[in-house]
Amino acid sequence: MKADFSKNLLLWDQKTNNRPMPWKGIKDPYKIWLSEIILQQTRVEQGWAYYERFIKAFPTIHDLAKAPEKRVFKLWEGLGYYNRCKNLIATAKKISVEYKGRFPSSYDEILELKGIGPYTAAAIASFAFDLPYAVVDGNVERVLSRYFGINTPVDTNDGKKMYNLLANALLDKKKPGKYNQAIMDFGAVVCKPQNPLCQHCPQRRSCQAYHFHLTQALPVKSKKAEKKIRWFYYFIIEHQGGLWVHKRDAKDVWQNLYEFVLWETNKETAPDKIIGSAFALKTFDNQKINIKNLSPVYKQQLTHQTIYTQFLWASVKKLLKNLEGYEFIKIKDLIKLPFPKTIADYLKTASMNERR
Ligand code: ADE
Repeated sequence: MKADFSKNLLLWDQKTNNRPMPWKGIKDPYKIWLSEIILQQTRVEQGWAYYERFIKAFPTIHDLAKAPEKRVFKLWEGLGYYNRCKNLIATAKKISVEYKGRFPSSYDEILELKGIGPYTAAAIASFAFDLPYAVVDGNVERVLSRYFGINTPVDTNDGKKMYNLLANALLDKKKPGKYNQAIMDFGAVVCKPQNPLCQHCPQRRSCQAYHFHLTQALPVKSKKAEKKIRWFYYFIIEHQGGLWVHKRDAKDVWQNLYEFVLWETNKETAPDKIIGSAFALKTFDNQKINIKNLSPVYKQQLTHQTIYTQFLWASVKKLLKNLEGYEFIKIKDLIKLPFPKTIADYLKTASMNERR
């Protein structure tokens, strides 16, 4: 059964799989690494254009290492999970300087790098260096749990160990890169989370989930992820063609990205209430708050939290004094700053002229 799985997978890859992706088959570890970091927590369709823009802007790891950080964050804008970008920069610098631009070529060295866990290390080691390490991501867990009828929860230590052992036992050690790419593609194209293509699946004769009608029930997770809800209200405060912005630095979402004056709460709040809050009065030094524009509510769904955001555009006659940690910048320079996707989307749709 095990041997059949791997053989059928590679046959499917050879005969049927025509999933095109720009990093597929590439051997340059820098490009593979870059694609894998972009694809952590990002769908292939979304990551594709980012990958191409990054490769164009930074053809080698030296180019990325010596680029101004602001430029790298600007290119990353919209991808979210900005720690990935921070680690990307740190690792590019390390490889450029300490390794003189040569990407380390052993699994253990790769795993030591910032931003690289067992999955990404296995992907780079197998794709770039043909080392026999199986990738285990959500795709792989789903395919294996269905085919072998495994109901051990994937998010437990036992589950992780077991899937890792099984994935490595199934790996074609002569073609680890090809095999790893094939199982990920198979999970994305055939053994999909919803509506898997069982009728066209070359593995279905031996697939336990198919026989016992368990495709929807597998894989099993032990806990439902707890979801936090946050409401961000941004005051965009204009004064003579300038605005106050702030770089987020806390250990939180949107690290290193810019934002406006934030009032955060855990429930939807009427704009009148926000404007009348002690926070607003202090922020505006008791000046009259004249809201020129109130945006629609934007929603961003992250893995463990939902963020609702609304923008309140106001103008003030006098400079504000209580905005510690904020920079005052010209509206025309906003474009140079990296913003979280929600803010960038808002700024794109809100033409500056409309609100003056
Ligand atoms: N997700 C992460 N890495 C991938 C890859 N190499 N191909 C397809 N999906 C992926």
